[in-house]
Amino acid sequence: MLCASRSDELVFFVNGRKVIERNVDPEGTLLTFLRKNLRLTGTKYACGRGGCGACTVMVSKHDSVSKKIRHFSVTACLMPICSLYGSAVTTVEGVGSIKTRLHPVQERIAKSHGTQCGFCTPGMVMSMYTLLRNHPQPSEEQLMEALGGNLCRCTGYRPIFESGRTFCMEANSCQQKGTGKCCLDWGENDSSPLGKKNERMAENPEKQMLTFYGERVTWISPGTLKDLLELKAKHPKAPLVLGNTSLGPGMKSQGHFHPVLLSPARISELSMVTKTSDGLTIGAGCSLAQMQVILAERISELPEEKTQTYRALLKHLRSLAGQQIRNMASLGGHVMSRHCYSDLSPILAVGNSTLNLISAEGTRQIPLNEHFLAGLASADIEPEEILESVHIPHSQKWEFVSAFRQAQCQQNALPHVNAGMRVLFKGGTDSIEDLHIAYGGVGPATISAHRSCQQLLGRRWNELMLDEACRLLLDEVSLPGSAPGGRVEFKRTLVVSFLFKFYLEVLQELKKLDRRYSEISERFLSALEDFPVTIPQGVQTYQSVDPHQPLQDPVGRPIMHLSGLKHATGEAIFCDDIPMVDKELFMALMTSSRAHAKIRSIDVSKALELPGVIDVITAEDIPGINGAENDKLLAVDEVICVGQIICAVVAETDVQAKRATEKIKITYEDLEPVILTIKDAINHNSFLCPEKKLEQGNVEEAFEKVDQIVEGEVHVGGQEHFYMETQRVLVIPKTEDKELDIYVSTQDPAHVQKTVSSTLNIPISRITCHVKRVGGGFGGKTGKPAVFGAIAGVGAIKTGHPIRLVLDREDDMLITGGRHPLFGKYKVGFMNNRRIKALDIECFINGGCTLDDSELVTEFLILKLENAYKIRNLRFQGCACMTNLPSNTAFRGFGFPQGALVTESCITAVAAKCGLPPEKIREKNMYKAVDKTIYNQAFNPETLIRCWNECLDKSSFHSRRMQAEEFNKKNYWKKKGIAIIPMKFSVGFAATSYHQAAALVHIYTDGSVLVTHGGSELGQGIHTKMLQVASRELKIPMSYIHICETSTATVPNTIATAASIGADVNGRAVQDACQILLKRLEPIIKKHPEGTWEDWVEAAFEQRISLSATGYFRGYKAFMDWEKGVGDPFPYYVYGAACSEVEIDCLTGAHKKIRTDIIMDACCSLNPAIDIGQIEGSFIQGMGLYTTEELKYSPEGVLYSRSPDEYKIPTITDVPEEFNVSLMPSSYTPLTIYSSKGLGESGMFLGSSVFFAIADAVATVRRERGIAEDFMVQSPATPEWVRMACADRFTEMIPRDDPKTFKPWSIPIA
Ligand SMILES: Cc1cc2nc3c(=O)[nH]c(=O)nc-3n(C[C@H](O)[C@H](O)[C@H](O)COP(=O)(O)OP(=O)(O)OC[C@H]3O[C@@H](n4cnc5c(N)ncnc54)[C@H](O)[C@@H]3O)c2cc1C
Ligand code: FES
Ligand code: FES
Repeated sequence: MLCASRSDELVFFVNGRKVIERNVDPEGTLLTFLRKNLRLTGTKYACGRGGCGACTVMVSKHDSVSKKIRHFSVTACLMPICSLYGSAVTTVEGVGSIKTRLHPVQERIAKSHGTQCGFCTPGMVMSMYTLLRNHPQPSEEQLMEALGGNLCRCTGYRPIFESGRTFCMEANSCQQKGTGKCCLDWGENDSSPLGKKNERMAENPEKQMLTFYGERVTWISPGTLKDLLELKAKHPKAPLVLGNTSLGPGMKSQGHFHPVLLSPARISELSMVTKTSDGLTIGAGCSLAQMQVILAERISELPEEKTQTYRALLKHLRSLAGQQIRNMASLGGHVMSRHCYSDLSPILAVGNSTLNLISAEGTRQIPLNEHFLAGLASADIEPEEILESVHIPHSQKWEFVSAFRQAQCQQNALPHVNAGMRVLFKGGTDSIEDLHIAYGGVGPATISAHRSCQQLLGRRWNELMLDEACRLLLDEVSLPGSAPGGRVEFKRTLVVSFLFKFYLEVLQELKKLDRRYSEISERFLSALEDFPVTIPQGVQTYQSVDPHQPLQDPVGRPIMHLSGLKHATGEAIFCDDIPMVDKELFMALMTSSRAHAKIRSIDVSKALELPGVIDVITAEDIPGINGAENDKLLAVDEVICVGQIICAVVAETDVQAKRATEKIKITYEDLEPVILTIKDAINHNSFLCPEKKLEQGNVEEAFEKVDQIVEGEVHVGGQEHFYMETQRVLVIPKTEDKELDIYVSTQDPAHVQKTVSSTLNIPISRITCHVKRVGGGFGGKTGKPAVFGAIAGVGAIKTGHPIRLVLDREDDMLITGGRHPLFGKYKVGFMNNRRIKALDIECFINGGCTLDDSELVTEFLILKLENAYKIRNLRFQGCACMTNLPSNTAFRGFGFPQGALVTESCITAVAAKCGLPPEKIREKNMYKAVDKTIYNQAFNPETLIRCWNECLDKSSFHSRRMQAEEFNKKNYWKKKGIAIIPMKFSVGFAATSYHQAAALVHIYTDGSVLVTHGGSELGQGIHTKMLQVASRELKIPMSYIHICETSTATVPNTIATAASIGADVNGRAVQDACQILLKRLEPIIKKHPEGTWEDWVEAAFEQRISLSATGYFRGYKAFMDWEKGVGDPFPYYVYGAACSEVEIDCLTGAHKKIRTDIIMDACCSLNPAIDIGQIEGSFIQGMGLYTTEELKYSPEGVLYSRSPDEYKIPTITDVPEEFNVSLMPSSYTPLTIYSSKGLGESGMFLGSSVFFAIADAVATVRRERGIAEDFMVQSPATPEWVRMACADRFTEMIPRDDPKTFKPWSIPIA
């Protein structure tokens, strides 16, 4: 700290209000300031690293160069608060409110059913709002670009995009148009429908120096370049903060600390752009988004031959991060960060760019070359120098520049490998005069293949040169087997695959310049194009309600989510949005860094010395029971996984608590064995529970009689829930009677209540859990929230203060586990007529270190393995492995998505053996008539068959299969694949007691009704459905009825909202309560049929008739006898089918989703909009499981993938180009409420249709190339897996390491 007494005032505007902050902390971000200081909690925290967009706000700044105001979206979590001097910030609260008026963006996202849990919604609104501020009628491409940096885990994006599309010039109509209620018509009181009135701008701030002193850090913002240079000379180690997108994550996650930060944001010289005759000089302070505009403009002005480098840069800028990051990140920050994955550095380097440096001493230029990028002292900038601008020369005739990148998914993903390549030919020839190739992602810095390029000078551009170049490159750009980031063989392959693409691209350009050069064969042309970002289209079909249904009856209608509008305005309160309560303290968790070790000592003394730290909670502080014997809440003596909670710090602020955890010293003594993989667990006989087994017929005998047998293995990776709202809880101890109020984000409040009770040794009756809404659960908030509730409870009781515990995304991903990885072995016997006669599957799931739900998951997995197939002789076995990894838990689908992938892989393998397309084998072996499952439960497959046939029909499957085959014949490097998958999904828990539900309905004397039931609102719209039920039963409009929260005080002993059955069973309870009440009112109604609801209620009160009733549903009968292997475990099935078509790039492993058609049997949907939302959302989540979501563990058991940077859930660009969903016309299920079905989970597995479409394309490649078709099935089908499965001369030429000779960076745990 320099001198705290002279801190300047930070002045900026938020939603039109002037903010003057006298003691600003330079370490603070805009997000913290908004949420904590201004109590604007609409802006959400979900990752803290700029990777998810939940914290998006709009910043408006005066641009000193253009003299205009620039509006741009930013991620508030990375925006240093001090950088906002003189800016105007617009948050979701400033855009519109349900209390005053809504903005059309807010109204449309809600009415288009674009919100489910609503946690991502404010961010989505702000991205769209900012787009509309700049482009009132944007193109669909601009809309895609604007939303590319916003993640949503619930909706599957389609409805969000649809809502934005109503503003686009292509669509130009609101979905409400025609109903007389279009929100476009709302602008009468405002200058424009987009509402500009909130935006008050500060004048261009003066040129004075601003200094903000914090406790540990000083922020200096000079007003002139001269001042900046002097400051840099004085503080040579101080970094320049531009976008903070590189510095910020470094400070947050890697513990980087800078006592002085220099902000050059107000120095106009750094934002200058100069066009010269030989190139373009772009100021280091220009944002990457501005650079996009500058380059696009230059490209439009100059002849093509001069803009080769600019085009290559522009191509990568489009896919670099999301829009918000591009708006914040600067060119200078990008270049100076010298990230090994930098998308721009390889192109800038091959394009002979130079860096213009400036210091108090003067200016100088250095080349942006491999020496600079490697940080060599001789080629580096001096500590007192800064980068003023980057000069990028024009290209010339006979010069070609290209850029390549491959990431886990198309948008918003750091590249695995990227490259810039440039060749200059001797004019009029194909002889290489100059060649420059640079790669990112294959070393600690951007690497230049200088030696190889030198050796190729003078060579002609032909196949011989290509072969030689590949050999040279692989030699020069060598990557050790243990290289950080892993994926070594894939990266080596990309090095040469990119070169091959470049070779073809240049060949094509040469041909354009001179016809003499050889033509690329048409089949090879497909190597050239990258998959463009496409605009999703689609149709959703459902049955309208019976025309005779009373208008007021909402059941079966597509009613908007009850909280939709509040989600869109940020007024929906989530757990951490609850205002700070009196004397509240914050808790942070300290976790194990060892997979299996004895805890030798825990030294908390240094932590306790820190300011603000109140206490450290350890196992010894637990007054009651510390979890279970093998599953402790807080570790005692021994740790059994990395991420196990050992103790917790309680401090006055979250920052203090987190800093204190870093000061706790734990000494360990490592223990053996450390079991991480399923294979290790099998070898060590390490299992969590007894094996589960089901058998039907005589498998051994059947294998002897079949014509053919195929055996294989399937590996399915795990999955992170990635609910947008991380785990959080607020425990408020009351002064009287040891009572506790707990506000928690959970699917199972009763479980939290029970666990807190046993941990604190307090009767359950004194603990009340409240759940207003949950920002996504997907199973991850079933068991785990109880752990956090209990630990926070211990802190609350010990300190006597309320405790707030909000998990960082990193901690959440590390601690909470997820979907179980699975390893499956199968043996399948079939006849020559394609009939499968015997199937033997053995599955092992990686349960992690404690039992959690692993036994149940194994049971469900085994019960559901047969999926849609009738095979007479079956044997299914399942084991849950105990490993030293965080315990895995419930996740949407509960074992089925992993298990059924094994079954479908068997079918695919049989098809390959028979030389037939898999759908023929599927069709042949599907259930056809009323039959019994492997566990002897009778069922009628009629609806299953209808779904299958309708899906075949609606997707025009057979004709598209033929078209795909035609395409594949014509294209060598791109292949299409298509797959159709049937599904029989059993809903519910396999125990009757788990299906019980209760509700409490009060009618008040004004006629308003309060409904409470046992289900948590997770975004799945359960409260909306419950109001629909109550409305029908009581025959009053939904507007009369309210749901406040789920609380253990109103409905006790509830079951987790899970297993797709929440709305179903709670609906029955609400129905029961309403029917009881209506029965009580009936005599009054009969007597005064002309009266109103209010009259009847009043009369009932006068007559002392109770207006409150408890409804109860005893549950569907369900049981399973595992001894005998028979039972009736599930109340009913949901059937469905999905057809997906993809195209793969054989050279990079990328894929494009061309089309998906889903047919789902929803019976009589309670709310088709909500149900379609569940299907689409779970399908996209399933698609993520099977294609991009990859968890990486170190050989020591440390989870690497702990942020959206490293773990890729689908983004908006991953939605199939055409995405159709149909709810099958109603069938009838007498069992369920109004004959509806629970659809929360089933869509997940249908995501596998994308997996099998990719596998189909890969199989075509292998067939064509004469390679064995029965390759190992591995999910997710990442670009790495696809590329390596599409073996070719490039995969063959790369060096392969002997696995025994190195320690890999990561290990597969499935
Ligand atoms: C979510 C996310 C996704 C991303 N995705 C990608 C991607 O796909 N591809 C990719 O290539 N990159 C990606 N990035 C990285 C991003 O491009 C860089 O973080 C960014 O360009 C850095 O710019 P900045 O202005 O934010 O730098 P800052 O963080 O402000 O500064 C970074 C460093 O540069 C120095 N510096 C800045 N300006 C100057 C100057 N004028 N002179 C001297 N030193 C200076 C600073 O001292 C500091 O050390 C991503 C980043 C995030 C957060
Ligand atoms: S919370 Fe800011 S981007 Fe995720
Ligand atoms: S609605 Fe988008 S994350 Fe839940």
